[in-house]
Amino acid sequence: MAGNGRRIDETEVGEHYADWFTRGLRGIGMRYVFSRRGLWVINTPYRRILAVASIGPQDRVLDLGCGIGNILIALSERIAFAQPPVGVDVSSTLIDIGRREVAKAGFDGKIDLRVAAATQLPFADASFDVALSSHVIKHLDDDALALSFGEVARVLRPGGRFLVWEFKRSPLSAPIFVSAKATGLPPAFILRSETTLRAALTRAGFSRIERVRTGLFLLPPVPRIALLASR
Ligand SMILES: C[S@@+](CC[C@H](N)C(=O)[O-])C[C@H]1O[C@@H](n2cnc3c(N)ncnc32)[C@H](O)[C@@H]1O
Repeated sequence: MAGNGRRIDETEVGEHYADWFTRGLRGIGMRYVFSRRGLWVINTPYRRILAVASIGPQDRVLDLGCGIGNILIALSERIAFAQPPVGVDVSSTLIDIGRREVAKAGFDGKIDLRVAAATQLPFADASFDVALSSHVIKHLDDDALALSFGEVARVLRPGGRFLVWEFKRSPLSAPIFVSAKATGLPPAFILRSETTLRAALTRAGFSRIERVRTGLFLLPPVPRIALLASR
């Protein structure tokens, strides 16, 4: 088992992020790097990654663990969606900040941000064409990962695509995370290999799973794994 049976409390992770985003100078830094303006920092190759999902104006898009809405704002700048894309995050604080970011970017009413846990999506079956998730699934324990992938499969229509990227389990990741943990950062997480993630996606009912070439991420310099799975 990838997480060795380790439990992660989804609510606690959300509270940890809320604390990060609202306290002092660190809060200002976090709000910048996780905003639309800061996408170049922690999601440097986001355009290249998103391109593989071939998202078009007719697609209804879900961003799982949307943070403060950065990716949906960036997508909405390029695509005039017929239906507002939807972002969910477990932290109500981040969703509140995200709604302000959406309004500032001029997308009030055009991007729908809601509080929800990745394991329990408040949407009808087969109601999305594309689901995205950036740097979220490390915060899900093995049971939550299975539940969450199952929920994504449920809310995607047949043929729908799920594009997910995350830090990868790799010897190159270890030193950075050891030092990050020593400073109390980040919230509880589990890194997984491509094999583990592919198996979890397959169990959730995804049929075609392709590796996506991510390109270079600037910060933190930890290898990522990106997969495009289809229902
Ligand atoms: C590293 S941030 C990534 C935010 C955004 N996706 C991005 O790439 O900039 C991780 C986000 O996942 C959210 N998150 C963590 N666990 C979650 C869960 N179980 N359900 C929903 N959101 C979760 C956190 O609140 C946080 O906003």
